[in-house]
Amino acid sequence: MRVLGIETTCDETAAAVVERLPDGSGRILSNAILSQAKRHAAYGGVVPEIASRAHVDAVDRIVAQAMQSADLTINQIDGVAAAGGPGLIGGVIVGLTTAKAIAFAAGRPFLAINHLEGHALTARLTDNVQFPYLLLLASGGHSQLVAVEGVGKYTRLGTTIDDAIGEAFDKVAKLLGLGYPGGPAVERLATNGNPERFAFPRPMVGRPEPNFSLSGLKTAVRIEAERTAPLNDKDVADLCAGFQAAVLDMVLDRVRVALSQFKTRYGQPTALVVAGGVAANMALREGLQRLSDHFRIPMLAPPLQLCGDNGAMIAWAGLERLSMGLRDPLSFAPRARWPLDENAAAPGARA
Ligand code: KG4
Ligand code: ZN
Repeated sequence: MRVLGIETTCDETAAAVVERLPDGSGRILSNAILSQAKRHAAYGGVVPEIASRAHVDAVDRIVAQAMQSADLTINQIDGVAAAGGPGLIGGVIVGLTTAKAIAFAAGRPFLAINHLEGHALTARLTDNVQFPYLLLLASGGHSQLVAVEGVGKYTRLGTTIDDAIGEAFDKVAKLLGLGYPGGPAVERLATNGNPERFAFPRPMVGRPEPNFSLSGLKTAVRIEAERTAPLNDKDVADLCAGFQAAVLDMVLDRVRVALSQFKTRYGQPTALVVAGGVAANMALREGLQRLSDHFRIPMLAPPLQLCGDNGAMIAWAGLERLSMGLRDPLSFAPRARWPLDENAAAPGARA
């Protein structure tokens, strides 16, 4: 079974063809990605109007590229999937409409995929991991700890009460003049910095619910940066190292809490899975590896090209749903908001 997947929710125009084998494992036949990051760099973040226009310009070409490098015609595809949200609505409309048109013209099933579900199920594409597992989803727009019990069965254990983890990296990068996207730049500079020079707070550490908070940390970095200015290269590296160390301490403490909650509710997880753009961060991967070694569960992180937004994760989620007999109507409306766990209350609210 093969599905074409299209992703346009943020600043990557991406399309991929993925195949699902009878044993349930996946194989990526093509994975075309065009990053718009350069177009947004001057603004220190994604500009929605620029993103929508860039998706319109690129989507046909990227889909054609994915089909060509898979060496397949549309008749050899069993379904067409697109991210139906959450994300920047202009971009979502572009990818969704393209997928609907292809599915309609080719007489194939159409699947509207939750972008977060794409990230959540990537570890099944790459590692054929079984349910249930604990997912740390950390991207520019989302930071969540989720119990993944099955396709479409997600329970949010924790979330951020303010900024997403990737967003905090981006904001710190912006205030230090490191450009967009900030995560890779902050990580690179942090490797040469002294993480102990600046004593940044560890928000949320020790709290019983596995939620995150990043805005106070970001403010602390700004205050130290202003106090230390003018900043030389060493100062910037030390600020990056101190910030990253504080984020890691918080995230690892939160994952530890989520793991023990998971065990109480669902038993031993098959794995600790990390996904989303921030999963590219090597220091985070190493910390999660140490933690999962301690808990004696496997740690799974997707290969770097599958951490950020991509079409393969959308195609794979489409395959998972299609093989369960699911499909979506062409009337499916794009969603700017679309929680993975529809029942999750606001953090801190009583259920
Ligand atoms: O999943 P993704 O590509 O897009 C969203 O759905 O948000 O994630 C992008 C985010 C950005 O905030 C970026 O700064 C962050 O992932 N990121 C990183 C690293 N690489 C990307 N954050 C920390 N360290 C990295 N190496
Ligand atoms: Zn994403």
